[in-house]
Amino acid sequence: MSSTLEETFDLVVIGAGPGGYVAAIRAAQLGLKTACIEKEPALGGTCLNWGCIPSKALLDSSELYHLARTSFAKHGIKTEVSLDLSAMMARKDQVASGLTRGVASLFKKNKVEQVQGNARLISPTAIQVNSAAGARTLNTKRILVATGSEIATLPHIALDGKDIITSNEAISLTEVPKKLLVIGGGAIGLELGSVWSRLGSQVTVVEALPQICPFLDGDVAKAFQKTMEKQGLQFIFEAKVTGAVRQDHEVVLSGTAKDGSAQSWTADRVLVAVGRRPCIDGAGLEGAGVQLTERKRVKVDASFRTNLPGVWAIGDLVDGPMLAHKAEEEGVAVAELIAGQKAHVDHNLIPNVVYTEPEVASIGLTEADCTKRSLTVRVGRFPFLANGRARAAGATDGFVKIIADAKTDRVLGAAIIGQRAADLIAAIAAHMVYGGSSEDIARTCVAHPTHGEAVKEAALDCLGRVIHA
Ligand code: NAI
Repeated sequence: MSSTLEETFDLVVIGAGPGGYVAAIRAAQLGLKTACIEKEPALGGTCLNWGCIPSKALLDSSELYHLARTSFAKHGIKTEVSLDLSAMMARKDQVASGLTRGVASLFKKNKVEQVQGNARLISPTAIQVNSAAGARTLNTKRILVATGSEIATLPHIALDGKDIITSNEAISLTEVPKKLLVIGGGAIGLELGSVWSRLGSQVTVVEALPQICPFLDGDVAKAFQKTMEKQGLQFIFEAKVTGAVRQDHEVVLSGTAKDGSAQSWTADRVLVAVGRRPCIDGAGLEGAGVQLTERKRVKVDASFRTNLPGVWAIGDLVDGPMLAHKAEEEGVAVAELIAGQKAHVDHNLIPNVVYTEPEVASIGLTEADCTKRSLTVRVGRFPFLANGRARAAGATDGFVKIIADAKTDRVLGAAIIGQRAADLIAAIAAHMVYGGSSEDIARTCVAHPTHGEAVKEAALDCLGRVIHA
């Protein structure tokens, strides 16, 4: 069946991930007649269906299991603990589906037209949508492409969805692998490595670079590695996995070690977590003449406009970190720009969080970035070991690090490794948005006893006035 529907939207958004659905809602709030096309039956994109949310549900459940086994007794709580993996997975699915349904009701509430199907750009003002129900053409004044990213794979490692898997399968395993080998020491490798380690797997992470999470300063990455090792994860650095074959009950991986010698590793499951790549092909962007950058991302200007008039792109498709909250900010900015408002995203102030326990959060410049830019800085630190609330919680691993310009005292960057780091970094971000100084943070009254006091003390340390260390 094929039909053409003659209607003109002010904005059609392709992709209902955090970038696309938030942009569509904001555009509708601003009075634009908006449609959002999604090829999957559920809204929310990778974040809600396979990424951020399911992995956080499993991180929270597995942490509770781990604490019940290792720490409850210290708190005077006696338990007999056993794992019901299918119940844990069912809970994770419920959390995700509840949120995707939530996006559908937000669309209804805000009068965003939800269109299911595969979108292809025909021209800057027309999109064809193919679905089981047939083909449909949406005419529109403007298009926002927010098709996100897909999992990157390694050329010589054939995924089989069973033993050699990606994060898509690693959030839904039906049994705990005995030996899990993770290729890649980025956020996905460490978060899902943590989940399965807590549930009983022996986890080894093979990383091509000399440290985990290359976006972190070396000292923060080192402390992060040490806490992960304390929890049982093993790391092999400067090693590359180049092949994997199934032999009997094991996967045998081949590659090179740090010294360049040939190396092999065995595991019963292998998780390939070596990054993501933008979904350019799906919506026919290149065919429609959308220009790409050298790194194969969609080329946009500072207002997220592509080279095609009336066509914008945001999120994982364009330069910058592939993070849901970055995509959301860009989506809101595009909707507001289209509605004639002023909008801007400060890409220097996008927080980055790895949701292990402890969490690792960072924002702004690292010390290494400051050295590269010849900036003279003062660095303040404060360990959670000296924070009363962290001690009460038994979560003393980690520290807060704040980097301030030595001349102006303006905060240039921060990193936190510790319990609740993801929430704590928001307080620093709020100061940084207004160009705040370490003195501003140091003079902000923080409730006692809270983890937030460690942020204040790190700021005091920038000024040489730390109290509790
Ligand atoms: P990533 O790019 O963050 O890390 C991949 C790691 O794999 C790198 O450290 C790289 O050096 C290593 N690697 C690449 N090829 C290798 C090889 N052949 N052998 C050994 N190591 C190799 O990618 P990841 O963790 O897959 O995440 C994908 C994207 O999703 C990232 O942009 C990440 O920021 C985002 N994400 C964010 C999360 C968060 O904010 N908490 C959670 C999960 C993903």
